[in-house]
Amino acid sequence: MLAITEYREVFLKYLEEKITIKEPANLYEPMVYILGLGGKRLRPVLVLMATEIFEKDYKEALDASLAIEIFHNFSLVHDDIMDDAPLRRGKETVHEKWDINTGILSGDAMLINAYQLFENYEGNTFKELAQLFTKTAMEVCEGQQYDIDFETRDDVSIEDYLKMIEYKTAVLVGASLQMGAIVAGVDEDCKKAIYQFGRLLGIAFQLQDDYLDAFGDPKTFGKQVGGDIIENKKTFLYLKSLEASNEDEAKQLEYLYSIDPEDNSGKIETVKSIFQKSGAAKSTKEEIQKYTKMAFEVLDSISISEEKKKPLRDFGNMLMNRTV
Ligand code: IPE
Ligand code: IPE
Ligand code: MG
Ligand code: MG
Ligand code: MG
Repeated sequence: MLAITEYREVFLKYLEEKITIKEPANLYEPMVYILGLGGKRLRPVLVLMATEIFEKDYKEALDASLAIEIFHNFSLVHDDIMDDAPLRRGKETVHEKWDINTGILSGDAMLINAYQLFENYEGNTFKELAQLFTKTAMEVCEGQQYDIDFETRDDVSIEDYLKMIEYKTAVLVGASLQMGAIVAGVDEDCKKAIYQFGRLLGIAFQLQDDYLDAFGDPKTFGKQVGGDIIENKKTFLYLKSLEASNEDEAKQLEYLYSIDPEDNSGKIETVKSIFQKSGAAKSTKEEIQKYTKMAFEVLDSISISEEKKKPLRDFGNMLMNRTV
């Protein structure tokens, strides 16, 4: 097996080879732009790693890994429109650099391109990959719709939130690993187990994303810090704060999440101090650890060698400690 950084390098080389600007340039340039902006490349690395963990050459999984990364980037282009986000990976978002229509259509083309890449697989592998992809992509849409619906709902529970992040984020992490298992042709139990590992890790990942959205360092985070607070996202931080605060503070928080001020800096600062004071920031960290631990328990149950499990455990620990 290669190291995580080596899988990333191999993937990047493949991406550069395959993703080029064609005519009409206004359709393809945004695609090359967003895919070239960097990012952690977590999902394609997971596809490649899973393939090798299940004893197949990672090269066979390059098209699946590219499909997953293109789909992920498509979802970000549309997500940034929906979240009114100005920054992505430290640079202008596609709809800011071009316009909303360009973001919509380039995004659509990316989604189609992702599908196309599965055509490079034969027979049953193709069928299984396409089926998993379709199911996952539909769930991501469902999760994204819940996310938007929750902005204006005031009865969101922690259970609702966890389901929402499972759909919008975690299923794609699970699917990335399962795609590696499909390419490697392992049995159903292994496929299911590796998917579950990814799903649980994905939940921890989105909890961390929400934590960093409030508490990340603006110099390195690459996205607008406080963006979720501006958009009144009902994150774990918010829901736990409501649960743990006294009545006055809970009312204040609910009030802050009902307004849309011209200048958001005061709102962001007050909300962040409530997140800290209520203990919600700490609870979020604990929840991240809890889901990571659950993911590792599933990993323990998979019948592969300890040597093969280690890179996946390292990967989970790396996610927990990330700042970007
Ligand atoms: C951002 O994903 C969207 C979420 C699901 C939280 P990443 O944090 O993996 O984004 P990049 O690709 O590294 O920029
Ligand atoms: C995005 O969640 C999930 C998908 C793109 C499907 P977020 O809205 O939290 O992602 P970021 O923070 O913009 O990367
Ligand atoms: Mg967003
Ligand atoms: Mg979003
Ligand atoms: Mg986020």
